[in-house]
Amino acid sequence: MLSRRSAFRSLAALAAGSPLWSQEEDVNTPVNIHEFEEIAKRKLHKLAYDFIASGAEDERTLRANREAFDRVFLLPRVMNDVSNIDTSLDLLGTRHDFPIFIAPTGGKSLVIRDADETVAAGALASKIAICTATGAQKILEEGKPLVWWTNTIGTPDKASAVQYCKRVEDQGAKAIVLTVDNPYQSNRDRNNRNRFDYGYMQTGVPKPGEPIPPPRVPAKAVMHKPHTPNLTWEWLEWARGAAKIPVIVKGVLNPLDAALAVQRGAHAISVSNHGGRQLDGAIASLDALPACVDAVGGKIPVLMDGGIRRGQDILKALALGAKGVLIGRAPLWGLAAFGQPGVERVLWMLGAELKLAMGLAGVRRLADIDRSLVRRIPA
Ligand SMILES: Cc1cc2nc3c(=O)[nH]c(=O)nc-3n(C[C@H](O)[C@H](O)[C@H](O)COP(=O)(O)O)c2cc1C
Repeated sequence: MLSRRSAFRSLAALAAGSPLWSQEEDVNTPVNIHEFEEIAKRKLHKLAYDFIASGAEDERTLRANREAFDRVFLLPRVMNDVSNIDTSLDLLGTRHDFPIFIAPTGGKSLVIRDADETVAAGALASKIAICTATGAQKILEEGKPLVWWTNTIGTPDKASAVQYCKRVEDQGAKAIVLTVDNPYQSNRDRNNRNRFDYGYMQTGVPKPGEPIPPPRVPAKAVMHKPHTPNLTWEWLEWARGAAKIPVIVKGVLNPLDAALAVQRGAHAISVSNHGGRQLDGAIASLDALPACVDAVGGKIPVLMDGGIRRGQDILKALALGAKGVLIGRAPLWGLAAFGQPGVERVLWMLGAELKLAMGLAGVRRLADIDRSLVRRIPA
């Protein structure tokens, strides 16, 4: 059925001399992030879509990340002057227009051509900070002032870590994100079913509609592959000394670890379950957030990521104590649907929705957002 929006577009197109039923999608067609995902799903090969969308095993944690937002409701304030809404914040020595940062998403260039660079270019154009290991390389070489964080995943080896820190610091990285929740490659049923493997790095993934190629690796072959099994708090203490820029520990869920992160010198943490991609059955990020915030006791900033698809999700996370949020899949849906303009549109949408949610909730500045603005139902 023709939606009201596309009917209107067709009428406008008719006035401009275009055929009545031409309904080409453009970057303005999707009205929210969910619709970007629908378009991305149509445009990507199933194997590529699944690689991005999937979570580990039964995807309980993946679903829980979204469901947690559904249980938190806003208690808006009224009669506050919200004519000028300010979403800016200072974080780790840098001023940001929005409390929104692009999360590290490794492997995206495996399934979408030039994905790392295109997302970085979209972030740059939108003045949104991005965490990327390699994607910003070209932009950095061209000397553009991208605010970026870098993501270190790898076996802790001190000599190469020192070199790494020096290199990224020279290139202008503002922080190092240390991902701590992937000691092992997880078990992702959708990837296993699709026989997804990193061999696609060489061959590229099949085009939409093409059959899934015959298995190259047995299902579950990549499960248990070690990533960083010997990463410890001692490593964090050492890395903090080796790096001149702040170290953000990403992947904390347990308040005991949140407290340890402070003790061992993290400059910030992100409460995260890796978008439901690592330990299935782990608590939703939003549900884990308040206890981690309490354990940190205001000593360092707490970020969160997992399940953010709306501006009001960001408002809820901030109300529960996050200083800002990282977004993983949302910009990838924009990218897969419409390339760089799609990334920019998604970022714009989240920023605009956050501003609107703040206005409707009666808060003018991020500093005015606190727990009194939310209630979990059932409590
Ligand atoms: C395709 C993909 C690849 C990812 N790769 C990494 C990674 O290399 N390192 C990391 O710390 N997190 C990685 N993540 C997790 C994200 O940084 C983030 O925690 C998660 O996507 C947030 O949930 P959301 O997608 O619901 O926003 C990845 C996520 C996706 C979707």
